[in-house]
Amino acid sequence: MTAYGNFPGSRPRRLRTTPTMRRMVAETRLHPANLILPAFVREGIDAPVEISAMPGVRQHTLDTLRKAAVDAVEAGVSGIMLFGVPADEKKDARGTAGTDPDGILQQGLRAVRKEVGDDLVVMSDLCLDEYTDHGHCGVLTEDGRVDNDATLERYAEMAQVQADAGAHTVGPSGMMDGQIGVIRDALDQTGYEDVSILAYTAKYSSAFYGPFREAVGSSLRGDRKTYQQDPANVRESLRELALDLEEGADMVMVKPAGPYLDILAKVADSVNVPVAAYQISGEYSMIEAAAEKGWIDRDAAILESLTGIRRAGASMILTYWATEVAQRLGGRSA
Ligand code: PBG
Repeated sequence: MTAYGNFPGSRPRRLRTTPTMRRMVAETRLHPANLILPAFVREGIDAPVEISAMPGVRQHTLDTLRKAAVDAVEAGVSGIMLFGVPADEKKDARGTAGTDPDGILQQGLRAVRKEVGDDLVVMSDLCLDEYTDHGHCGVLTEDGRVDNDATLERYAEMAQVQADAGAHTVGPSGMMDGQIGVIRDALDQTGYEDVSILAYTAKYSSAFYGPFREAVGSSLRGDRKTYQQDPANVRESLRELALDLEEGADMVMVKPAGPYLDILAKVADSVNVPVAAYQISGEYSMIEAAAEKGWIDRDAAILESLTGIRRAGASMILTYWATEVAQRLGGRSA
């Protein structure tokens, strides 16, 4: 029984009474413009290949990649992040295919730019792991360690080749020290002052990248713990952030997203550049797998996961659901 006077006057439930009321008072909104689609383009296939660990995601041919880009534009998605998957025989210790002007990523960039022009922000993964036969994000020393400074020279070359192929934005994801500064210099010296850098600032060594390794046919044995961050650390992210900004990052990113919302919130609170988060392969596959088993409501779980990432402070979200969700949110005119 309630007696007047015994009950605190405030009733938060009043603002939850109708869908329109809830919509009006919502503090966080998802919009198609917040979304960026990561996409894989594979060399030497004549039909797209499904990625078994990521149901609904495929390795594209150049043709289906173009189509995916057009679909993204029509849905109102803002950007596309391209990953190249070279033919196995093109992999070598130095990741030569990553700097070949005719390498698969460069072909993909040119094809997408030709198709969509400036209607998407066309971004390229700037990293060697897809192209090395050992699967690491850099070149190795004789005794098998990842050689930071020798890798930077490869990244400088990659930046230029990707800009030549039409990237609006490069996304260095290798977590080498000094990578942003070296890439900025390389771009500036080759006339690409307007090509922007989306820095993978706080990239953690995560078990949730598992499905991605199939997506890019990774050759990695072992792990990336000497260059990607330890999941136990927070302060280290702020240090990486300070360095990336000093070196010229235009936008910064936290990756993965869901298990690192605290990092995202801290980063978002302390910068004056746009902040992105990458909802990675494992985050995608877990929801798809649970939904397939009938254990969760797929569509609601997807929206909730993205709303959480927005609420934590990301204005841009890389998600494999970008096109689907943008369509659901009302498409280009939303
Ligand atoms: C490295 C890279 C990775 C991802 C994006 N860029 C893999 C890794 O660091 O091991 C993972 C993306 C995902 O899991 O969706 N080039």
